[in-house]
Amino acid sequence: MSLQDFLSTLDGLEEEASSAFQNASDTDSLEVARVRYLGQKSGALRDVQKRMGSIDKADRKAAGMRLNQFKSNVQGTFETAKERLSGVDSAGADPTFDPSLPGLRPTVGHIHPVTQTITHLMEIMGRMGFEAAEGPEVEDPWHNFVALNIPEDHPARDPLDNFYLATAKSGSGDRTLEGSQLLRSQTSTVQIRVMENKQPPVRVISLGRVYRPDAPDATHFPMFHQMEGLLVDKHVTMANLKTVLRVFATNYLGDDVEIRFRPSFFPFTEPSVEVDFYWNGAWIEFGGAGMVDPAVFEAVGYDPEVYSGFAFGLGVERLCMRRHGITDIRDLYSGDLRFLQQF
Ligand code: PHE
Repeated sequence: MSLQDFLSTLDGLEEEASSAFQNASDTDSLEVARVRYLGQKSGALRDVQKRMGSIDKADRKAAGMRLNQFKSNVQGTFETAKERLSGVDSAGADPTFDPSLPGLRPTVGHIHPVTQTITHLMEIMGRMGFEAAEGPEVEDPWHNFVALNIPEDHPARDPLDNFYLATAKSGSGDRTLEGSQLLRSQTSTVQIRVMENKQPPVRVISLGRVYRPDAPDATHFPMFHQMEGLLVDKHVTMANLKTVLRVFATNYLGDDVEIRFRPSFFPFTEPSVEVDFYWNGAWIEFGGAGMVDPAVFEAVGYDPEVYSGFAFGLGVERLCMRRHGITDIRDLYSGDLRFLQQF
């Protein structure tokens, strides 16, 4: 037999066998087809194999290769057909399928508790007229520090306290942190971005991720969220700040919440305070706040003689954890569905 004839016989057979397997409507007829094509005793495959002997020695290698390919292709279509028909008896009905049983409920995902909290906070602040603003998570030193009155030598800019992105020094292969971008360490960056683009009055909140190289424990995580608030207008006072935060806290936690300011320091506010809420028998610190420092207004081109404003930054996870009785921040980011499904 010539190689040419051998190959075309295989081509024809392969097509025939494949369509026989594909067309089998139950396991019995599939078995009949299997015996016809792949049967050890009298199948077509066996016949072809026998004819190998009559092929020229020089062509045998090519013939053998095609034969192996034939075997695996035909075996493959057979397996596929077998899988398709598994569970279907010769009458065509699947005995394992009981149409009277209730269906399986598909697992449906849901919104992460932190995202739910963010939506809730935006809604509360939205009712007080605060619009949502956004800024990038990869920031430049101007927005994260300089415009916020945090000078070059300030400890808050320490590489150990920030995630700087090393950048190539121009002209050399060296990498440097100098003047480089970083993952923002606070959402106060958005205050600057908003004021650079808009004249007063300003009334915005910004909810987003911030990054600090803290070792994770029950109350720390290297990534967390802040709610930044900024209100700038004529005649804004600290009483306005306290009222807004009180209304916010009672809306989020309940009417029994008390609010307390403790003196503090931030380079971008003067005076500055720590904000505590009393709820469920304990005072808890939720963040910082204060009256916008005139140096910040100057950096964005607002006249500090005309305008005043307040700003605050609260920890979103802390609010969420407090409200839901969560005791370990790591639970929020472990991805454990047994935990997440409770919300
Ligand atoms: N950015 C401050 C922090 O991350 C919080 C803050 C925001 C303080 C706005 C005052 C005004 O700790």
